[in-house]
Amino acid sequence: MTDMTKDKYKVQFADAVSAASRNLFPDAHKAMGDKELFDSETLYGSLVKPKDASMGRFAFPVFKYAGLLKSKPPEIASKIADEANRILDRSDTASIIRVVAAGGFLNGQVDTSVLTRETLKAVLIGENAYGSSELGKDKTYLVEYSSPNIAKPFGVMHLRSTVLGNSLRRIYKKLGYTTVGINYPGDWGTQFGKMIVAYQKWGTEKDLKGEAVKNLLALYVRFHDEAKTDNSLEDQAREAFKKLEQGDPECVRLWQLFKDVSHAEFDRVYGLLGVEFDWVYGESKLNDKMEPVIQRLEKAGLTEISEGALVVKLPDENLPPVLLRRGDGATLYATRDLAGMVYRWEEYPLFHESLYIVNVAQTDHFKQCMNVIAMLEDAERAPSDHRMSGRMKHVDFGWLRFGDQTMSTRGGNIVLLEEVIDKAAELAREKIVEKNPDLKKIDETAHIIGLGAVIFSQLSLRRQRDIDFQWDEVLSFEGETGPYLQYTHARLCSLMRKYDRPVPVDVDFSLLSGDEEQRVIELLADFPKVIQDAGEQYEPFFISTHLLRLAAAFNKVYQRKDEEGSIDKIISDNDTLTGARIALVKAVQLVINEGLYLLGLEAPEEM
Ligand code: ARG
Repeated sequence: MTDMTKDKYKVQFADAVSAASRNLFPDAHKAMGDKELFDSETLYGSLVKPKDASMGRFAFPVFKYAGLLKSKPPEIASKIADEANRILDRSDTASIIRVVAAGGFLNGQVDTSVLTRETLKAVLIGENAYGSSELGKDKTYLVEYSSPNIAKPFGVMHLRSTVLGNSLRRIYKKLGYTTVGINYPGDWGTQFGKMIVAYQKWGTEKDLKGEAVKNLLALYVRFHDEAKTDNSLEDQAREAFKKLEQGDPECVRLWQLFKDVSHAEFDRVYGLLGVEFDWVYGESKLNDKMEPVIQRLEKAGLTEISEGALVVKLPDENLPPVLLRRGDGATLYATRDLAGMVYRWEEYPLFHESLYIVNVAQTDHFKQCMNVIAMLEDAERAPSDHRMSGRMKHVDFGWLRFGDQTMSTRGGNIVLLEEVIDKAAELAREKIVEKNPDLKKIDETAHIIGLGAVIFSQLSLRRQRDIDFQWDEVLSFEGETGPYLQYTHARLCSLMRKYDRPVPVDVDFSLLSGDEEQRVIELLADFPKVIQDAGEQYEPFFISTHLLRLAAAFNKVYQRKDEEGSIDKIISDNDTLTGARIALVKAVQLVINEGLYLLGLEAPEEM
């Protein structure tokens, strides 16, 4: 087994135990075939965690083999352990694990001196590439995130999608995938009819300058207010949208203006956040791509007319039919998503996965669309390895509650992301001035930390949980926050500045055998696996919690006291000891730095 995605210590253990069992019990192996005990791959999959961590990193119970091997579990375990260790001793690569029998269990213990040496060398030599892999070689990930709506301000509603997607894009790149970050702004639909009418009635060119998007929002809000008493407005809006669809020059001109001012604003926000995309296209891009898909669906016999509209009914009773075209000929949000799914598959054929990072409110919508695509591929008898259905995922996430402010656009009561970022930077600045008034780049650092607080607050919970955003919580330098990690990073950098020599790679690793150091080493060693898990389950949260654990574990080393009760300093008169500890400091700094990058945060060197 040389699968890069697997824990190599577990692999060594599983290989040795299965080989030992085959040597010892050839008859049982013949009788059983390649089952658990005899097959490294399945054995790997059934390893458990020992109750007590000091027993080992993982364990394999042999109880159920007592009957088959006609012997008591402890005897089986001890025989296999002896043979497995003999095999490990004979192998040419330095073995990190020992197999230890304890009752009916085979425990895998890691040789800490080898683990320490291997891990630290891998981090210090790999630097920011530590944890990279070729897992995604020749595979493509499409990740759609952000996708705000034109002519509406960038509110905190779209923040979570933006932050999650930006992080996942970085994670997949790190894992070696070709990664395409997609932004799909809402720039089409009947609301543009409303915007056009509102602008023609109450707007002026001046509204498109300065705080243009806010002005547009005010017009939109006014439209809804006046429509409560003026019934004709909705009709006028429908009319205007129809004209837009037909290419009426004045309507198109206004629509283009709305788009331009919105994009200028979005780009500014993305710049502030440090968020990037590889492919940006709005819903309107799909205008000429819907008809071919509708035709394919019709040809496949999947459509029907219902109350004048063209629909696809779904076998799942819990899902309403998908509306492709209304009675008046207008297409819908779902029609565009269907066309978009086909479009993405055409542009990136055989993509590995295509993710839609969108709020949980749209769960049914994505189920509907993905079901339709699956039905179409069934009907067209697409070969099973050439299907996009099954490769598309709605990566949903919970709500973001922002104090007691509601976030409905219609009411105009919206929390603007830019205001949130500004306030965060302002609060961070106050803290810095209090803690470190001599800091040189105060404003720049305050921005990095304020932003770090906002971004991390979106990633410190599992994505399906709701977030309750509280200012004092997200900005704390001590809690489980972005600023706490940034602060830890800055402190590590300051230790290295103090050391003021190149960090040694060849140190006496045995000087790091204390429990506190070993906990840090284990977390460093697990980092590559954590990145993979985060990618597999679309959970940057795995990385954020891992970094918090690492920072906490390092602080235990940092704050450790000697027998006399004074702090056992990292940098002391003992050069060899200092060298080993500084190597550890550097490794932790590199991993926190890279981890923060994968989450989308900057790591200041001083704060
Ligand atoms: N613009 C939409 C909204 O703000 C989100 C788009 C989600 N992506 C998609 N492919 N439908 O609600």
